Amino acid sequence: MAKVWSKRFDNALDPFIEKFNASIGFDRKLILEDLDCSIAHAKMLGKTKVLSSSEALQIIDGLELIKVEYLEGKFSPSPPSEDIHYCIEEKLINLIGETGKKLHTGRSRNDQVGTDIRLWLRKEIDNIEILITDLQKSFLNLAKSNIYTLIPGYTHMQRAQPLSLAHHLLAYIEMLQRDRERYKEVRSRVNISPLGSAALAGTKIKIDRHFTAAELGFKKIYKNSIDAVSDRDFCIEFVSASALLMSHLSKISEEIILWVTDEFSFAKLTDKCATGSSLMPQKKNPDVPELIRGKTGRVYGHLQALLTMVKGVPLSYNKDFQEDKEPIFDTAETISSCIKAMTILMNEGIEFSIKNLSDSVENDFSNATDLADYLVGKDVPFRTAYQVVGQMVKYCLERKMLFKNLKIEEFKKFHPEFEEDVFADLKPFNVVKSRNSEGGTGFAQVEKEVNSWQKRLLL
Ligand code: ARG
Repeated sequence: MAKVWSKRFDNALDPFIEKFNASIGFDRKLILEDLDCSIAHAKMLGKTKVLSSSEALQIIDGLELIKVEYLEGKFSPSPPSEDIHYCIEEKLINLIGETGKKLHTGRSRNDQVGTDIRLWLRKEIDNIEILITDLQKSFLNLAKSNIYTLIPGYTHMQRAQPLSLAHHLLAYIEMLQRDRERYKEVRSRVNISPLGSAALAGTKIKIDRHFTAAELGFKKIYKNSIDAVSDRDFCIEFVSASALLMSHLSKISEEIILWVTDEFSFAKLTDKCATGSSLMPQKKNPDVPELIRGKTGRVYGHLQALLTMVKGVPLSYNKDFQEDKEPIFDTAETISSCIKAMTILMNEGIEFSIKNLSDSVENDFSNATDLADYLVGKDVPFRTAYQVVGQMVKYCLERKMLFKNLKIEEFKKFHPEFEEDVFADLKPFNVVKSRNSEGGTGFAQVEKEVNSWQKRLLL
């Protein structure tokens, strides 16, 4: 197939270079967006009388027909077209003849490709928003039924203080909420039209950028044509928001992987989300959270690739930018499948072992702070109380005992202010219940938060 520019050249492109240069292998994903972009452009050229109304109609009908053929599986963009933009233009000219050659009036592939990826990304972000909300709901459902289930809380992976399991799960809902907010902000910068910036300088053809922007649902238009065709910040912002989302998914994945070990035994995987081993008959492997944890690396890699792609690239459009597509395509696909898999895992793939969880908080020193706080309640300065309890921990460890095994006389040896009622304060249930500061794990606080999320997520 002769290249659009062949008249200016004497010789054909080297066949290997032709393939090397082409993006049709991946940018064919943008076909519907490219068609919509061209339909809006043709409508606008008709409205501004650059094209006669019959020419505009002929082009629009041709583009609509290509859309139908594509959706019916009768047309699929492929080589030798270099990219999706040429592919559609060539197809249109084949279909309607000479008038098709007027479509590219007053535009360039530079503003066209920028428009296409923005349309594609906007739609993806809207899908992702729905997927994240579904995942939040699955966390909330588990939280609702586990307000009074206790789980050890850790810092440095060392037992710290017991928690309500619901409080732990609600922490993920908060992270996911920040993810949603980030995507919303990214969307506002995706939703700006570069169309009509042409190659880099704008055009002398009578166009109406506000018209095409409105047709395509863009909120505003780029103010500077050079910036418009050079900006890939929004791609980086999208992948950056996705990298953070993956960090959150990898965090819960790692926790689930730990929880289902024999060592922790805090939860079990149901058969729906676990796999066996080809050799060891006893195995039930947490492949789903492992895969999500593993896929985090791909998204981080895409972020690095895009940041490097734009570094030091002079204004305006440069072919480097063709490399923006595969990272954002793969990022969207990866995060969408990871969020879906995590939602299934939370909805039907995990069962908490309530008894093991409650037993686990009975046999440690995670009530040590409460012992210190008991003395604080008797007007002992916190630092003094803290040191008293430190000595008590040492005393118990040497005797392989827990606080609850000490006699009140032994307590009194460490501090005379200890009374019988200290034993109630040591119970994990009361430990959790008493942490009633705003945002704390106290049951009253957790219940309040569960109710508030229930309203926010419209359950
Ligand atoms: N395939 C190109 C891309 O993805 C389209 C824009 C090409 N523009 C150009 N001036 N060569 O970026």
